Amino acid sequence: MAAKPYIYITRKLPESVIDTLKSFADVEMWDSEENPVPRDILLNEAKKADALLTMLSDKIDKELFDIATNLKVVANLAVGFDNIDVEEATKRRIVVCNTPDILTDTTADLAFSLLLMTGRRLVEAVDVVREGKWKSWSSYFLAGTDVHHKTLGIVGMGNIGEAVAKRALGFDMRVLYHNRSRKLETEEKLGVKYATFDELVKQSDYVLVLTPLTPETKGMFTKEVFKRMKKSAFFINVARGPVAVEADLIEALKEGEIAGAGLDVFDKEPISPDHPLLQLNNVVALPHIGSASVETRTAMMELCCDNIEAVLKNEVPKTPVNR
Ligand code: DGY
Repeated sequence: MAAKPYIYITRKLPESVIDTLKSFADVEMWDSEENPVPRDILLNEAKKADALLTMLSDKIDKELFDIATNLKVVANLAVGFDNIDVEEATKRRIVVCNTPDILTDTTADLAFSLLLMTGRRLVEAVDVVREGKWKSWSSYFLAGTDVHHKTLGIVGMGNIGEAVAKRALGFDMRVLYHNRSRKLETEEKLGVKYATFDELVKQSDYVLVLTPLTPETKGMFTKEVFKRMKKSAFFINVARGPVAVEADLIEALKEGEIAGAGLDVFDKEPISPDHPLLQLNNVVALPHIGSASVETRTAMMELCCDNIEAVLKNEVPKTPVNR
């Protein structure tokens, strides 16, 4: 009888989710829900694994692929897959899968919440109440910036962008977008308008970044770009930290080039509590929770398992990125 395939999962997932995998494979998991698997253990497991179920915090690179001689599939628990060297995987005919679509609405909800939290100063307001600093009702006390009837500029108009646009239209916002290619159907369906990157940056009251991290988008938001934004505008990043040059963002926030930032993602995650961004009142920072609802995360885990099962059974996976 042929040996069972070996699947390694880099974070502790609920047993109920991995039951199906256990019916045909040997499955091991890193024993922590919170902490990433140490690199040496990951490499050691990769040497033996037919499949890896990975998190966006795991670096799946050439070094790993070179020793992972049995590896057939990497299923990443995220829509983004910039943590994986897909070119190296493809050279070795290793299938890489992600979790698109099922997280679209959850991530759009979070993106729009972050926009509201930032514009309306909601974190400062919560802190004031909790810390007993609410003295009286006063006219400009914690007065923020309106969201309704303002201009939202979405950079990266994929499914999540469209879902955010729908939410924004419900708030009577004007929606501009910038994307590698124009989306005429989306324009017609939603009434959003294409803008060049420069026009979008200059005209938007809220600039929302949703683009994947690629060599083209890395460092896209520089000092010069922040300078071109309105001084009253907010920068919201739910994509990946390195899309903006972090030092330039800090400078723009400190110098008043922009009014504030709402950030779910950072250059280095987790961000350290003494990081300069977290010393600024005009920054709302979240711990990369774009897709973090119980329903969606469970569905993402199930999709990863389905993809692994399909590849190991020589079937077509649902959401490959390199096939
Ligand atoms: C993703 O899936 O890439 C998101 O960043 C998770 O929140």
